[in-house]
Amino acid sequence: MPDVTERCSVAVIGGGVIGSTVAWTLAEAGHRVTLYTDRAVEQSTTWVAGGMLAPWSEAWPGDSGLLDLSLASMRAWPGFAARLEQDEHRVITARGSLAVAADEGDVADLHRVMAWLEARGEPVAPLSRREARALEPGLAAGLRPVFQVQDELAVDNRATLLALRELAVRAGATIEQRRISSLASLPQDQVVVAAGPWTSELLPALRVRPVKGEIMRLARRSFSAPPPRRIVRGWVRGRHVYLVPRPDGMVVGATQHEAGFDTTVTAGGVRDLLADAEAVFPGVADYAITDMSAGLRPVTPDNIPLIGRVDDRTLVAAGHGRNGMLLAPLTGSAILAELDGQPLAEAAAAHPRRFA
Ligand code: GLY
Repeated sequence: MPDVTERCSVAVIGGGVIGSTVAWTLAEAGHRVTLYTDRAVEQSTTWVAGGMLAPWSEAWPGDSGLLDLSLASMRAWPGFAARLEQDEHRVITARGSLAVAADEGDVADLHRVMAWLEARGEPVAPLSRREARALEPGLAAGLRPVFQVQDELAVDNRATLLALRELAVRAGATIEQRRISSLASLPQDQVVVAAGPWTSELLPALRVRPVKGEIMRLARRSFSAPPPRRIVRGWVRGRHVYLVPRPDGMVVGATQHEAGFDTTVTAGGVRDLLADAEAVFPGVADYAITDMSAGLRPVTPDNIPLIGRVDDRTLVAAGHGRNGMLLAPLTGSAILAELDGQPLAEAAAAHPRRFA
C-alpha cells in the first residue's frame, strides 16, 4: 500500500453528485484534484434525479445494509446542506414524506415495509386518512394513507450539483470536460472512479449496470391546486410513483426498467407516470409539463454501492442506485478516509472487495 497520508494529486472521474462531492471533499482536505467529466452538467444523471432523501420510505424489508448506510449519510445531510446553502443556492425544498396506497395489495405491501421499519425502531408513524387530508389536502379521496416520516427531505438536485461544482472549484479542484477511457493514461497519483453505470468500462471487474428511470417536471399554473408540501410516495396497483415538491411545482418519478443505456422517454413511461401521479394527486392534470427526461441509475448486484479502495492507485465511488443524492456526504467522507488510510467503519458494507 502506498503512503497516501501525504496530500497527493487525485483524478476523480465522473461529474455527477458523487464525483462532485468527492472532488470537493478531497480538495478541501488539501489534495490536488482534477475532476474529469465527459458531459455538460445538464446531461448528467444527477440533473435528471428527483432529489428525494428518503432512506425510510425507499427502504425494502431485509435491506438492512443499505438502510444503515443511508441513515449514516442522512445524519450528515443537514450540515452538508448548510454548507451548500451558504451562497445563493437553495437546496432543501421540503421536509417530511407520506406513504400512500391505492389498493388492498398496495396497502399490504406498505404495511410490510412499515412493520419492518417499526421493528427496527425507525421513526415511521402510522397515518390516518384524516391526518393525511389535513397535511396534504390535494391527495385523492379514495387513497389509503399508511405512514409518514417527518425526517425525510427533498432537495433541489440541480441546485445541489451546481453548488457542489462551485465549492469544488473554490476549494482548488480543476474541472476538465473530456472522456477518460484508460486509467493508466492519467498522470495523477491516485484515481477515484465515480462514473455511475459507466464504471464497469473503466473497472471491468466491478459490476455496475444501468437501470433506466423516466421522470417529469411539472409547473403549477395560476389556477392549479398547490403542489404537495411533503414528498408523497404512492404505491399504485403494484407500481411506485413519487411526487417531490418544488417551489413552483413538482417532480414526478420514476419508471424503472432494465433497458441498457437507452435514455429514450417513451410514451408508455409518460402514460404510467401521469396515470399514477393523478391517482395520488388529481390536481396534477392542470399542471404544465416542463421537462421529461430519463436517467440511468447505477446499480450493483446487491443494491449496495461500491465505495473504497480497489488497488494501490485506484478507488471507486459508484453504484449508488436509487440513492445517489442521499449517499453523497457519506461517500465523500469515506473516500477521504480511505486516502488517509483510515477507512470509515460506517462505509464498511460498501467495500468493493466484498465481491472478490
Ligand atoms: N430515488 C428515486 C429514484 O431512483 O427514482
